[in-house]
Amino acid sequence: FLPRPETDEQGGILAKDIHGKLIPGSQILAAPAHSRALVAGLSGEPTYLTVTEQGELHPWGIVDNCTHLGCTFPWNGNANQFQCPCHGSLYDAEGRVLRGPAPLPLRLTHAKIEGDYIRLSPWTETDPRTGKTPWWV
Ligand code: FES
Repeated sequence: FLPRPETDEQGGILAKDIHGKLIPGSQILAAPAHSRALVAGLSGEPTYLTVTEQGELHPWGIVDNCTHLGCTFPWNGNANQFQCPCHGSLYDAEGRVLRGPAPLPLRLTHAKIEGDYIRLSPWTETDPRTGKTPWWV
């Protein structure tokens, strides 16, 4: 038995909780559809994962780092928005800016179930929200 590597050649990592423990994918997927889970992602950055309508892991994670001045922010499920408490920026459920001063959409990572865990890896392809090269690449 060989344990899965926590990091891979593409810069991917397995998602962890706030205590640095690997998070089982089953734990995230046990939540209701549209739930958000905050995990430690690439470079330890807090990253939101989403459970889809079908009870699967949404294929992208959204980095919890406001594109204005870098504050972290909560998910407001009632408003269906990310709401930055620092200067009032609002983002939709997919991380698009609804209201500034944030100038850019939130960064994405790839997210997928890998065995018992969740692998996050850098998103370098076209941003599916804008159809353009991601601003963070
Ligand atoms: Fe989020 Fe300023 S850091 S609005």
